[in-house]
Order: sequence, then structure tokens, then C-alpha cells
Amino acid sequence: MSEQMDSRMLRDAFGAFPTGVVAVAAQVDGKLMGLAASSFTSVSLDPPLVSFSVAKGSTTWPDLRRAEHLGVTVLAEDHGALCRQLAGPAPERFTGVAFEITDSGAVMLAEGIAQYDCSVRDEFEAGDHIIVLLKLHAVVVHSRRQPLIFHRSEFGRLA
Ligand SMILES: Cc1cc2nc3c(=O)[nH]c(=O)nc-3n(C[C@H](O)[C@H](O)[C@H](O)COP(=O)(O)O)c2cc1C
Repeated sequence: MSEQMDSRMLRDAFGAFPTGVVAVAAQVDGKLMGLAASSFTSVSLDPPLVSFSVAKGSTTWPDLRRAEHLGVTVLAEDHGALCRQLAGPAPERFTGVAFEITDSGAVMLAEGIAQYDCSVRDEFEAGDHIIVLLKLHAVVVHSRRQPLIFHRSEFGRLA
């Protein structure tokens, strides 16, 4: 860590950049698992690729990465509490949550503004995170719903 940039300062600096939030989720060995991620971004149109970054210390990723397919759901503007739940204690992440499971095990949350059916194409070590490159297999977009916005550690919505 640079002497001029402690982790608090960096969190504040990174938090200045507004993002959406996705749920990355799958059923692995019959168990639902997933997490909230604000590091999601689109990468390539041809071939269709997206990415997100996961902390190396994630206790979920070592199992979640084994899923044949992963569901990525873009959270909607009223999903703030759901987002916190998906980042909270793992056994309760899906309690009371409406979702669908595809034949290949991707878990898509109902009421999201878009759902992407993905598989892990590559992983790149990047400091204390892993950049996960995902191949996109199918998409469903609900264009009339509005996204959840994450900015300066708070949830907001588009005006
Ligand atoms: C708004 C929000 C965004 C988050 N984004 C990420 C992210 O991009 N990458 C990540 O590894 N964790 C992110 N987290 C934390 C994870 O959702 C989860 O809490 C963390 O991975 C610890 O759980 P685990 O040990 O089960 O992985 C985010 C949490 C919140 C509330």
C-alpha cells in the first residue's frame, strides 16, 4: 500500500465512482450460493464477455466458481435491502428471495432489471482481488425497470 493512500482513502476514492450492483449466483452441489458485486462491467460484444472482481478472501467464490453456469442479475432500484442481504451471512442470502434456476444451475433473481446467463471463461489475479471474465450465453432485459445505484457506500436511484 502506498504511503499516500491508506485503505480508507482508497475506499472513499473508489466510492466516488457510481456503479450498479449485480447478484452473481448459482446452485452448486445442490446448494444456493451467491454474492452482491458492484465491480461488474461489460467487456466485449464479439464474443460477448462481461467481468466482475471478487476479493481473494471471498469464502463463497471458491465454491461458486465451480458452477457450470452463473446467473448475473442487475439489481433494481428497490433492491437496496436485498443487496445487503446478498452481502451478509451466507446461509441467509436467499431467504425470502424470489429466483429461478436454469438447467445449468445459474440462479437469476426475479424482479432484476436484466439477467445474464454466464460461465467462467478466465480468472486473473489482480492485487487483493481476482478479475473474473465471464462468457455470456443468454440475456433477458426488462427495459422499463430502473437500476439500483451504489455511490459513496450508499444506495440511490436515477432521478
Ligand atoms: C454494494 C455492494 C457491492 C459489493 N461488491 C463486491 C464486489 O464487487 N466484489 C466482491 O468481492 N465483494 C463485493 N461485495 C461484498 C460481497 O457481496 C460479500 O459480502 C463478500 O464477498 C463476502 O462474502 P463471501 O465471503 O461469502 O464472499 C459487495 C457488497 C456490497 C454491499
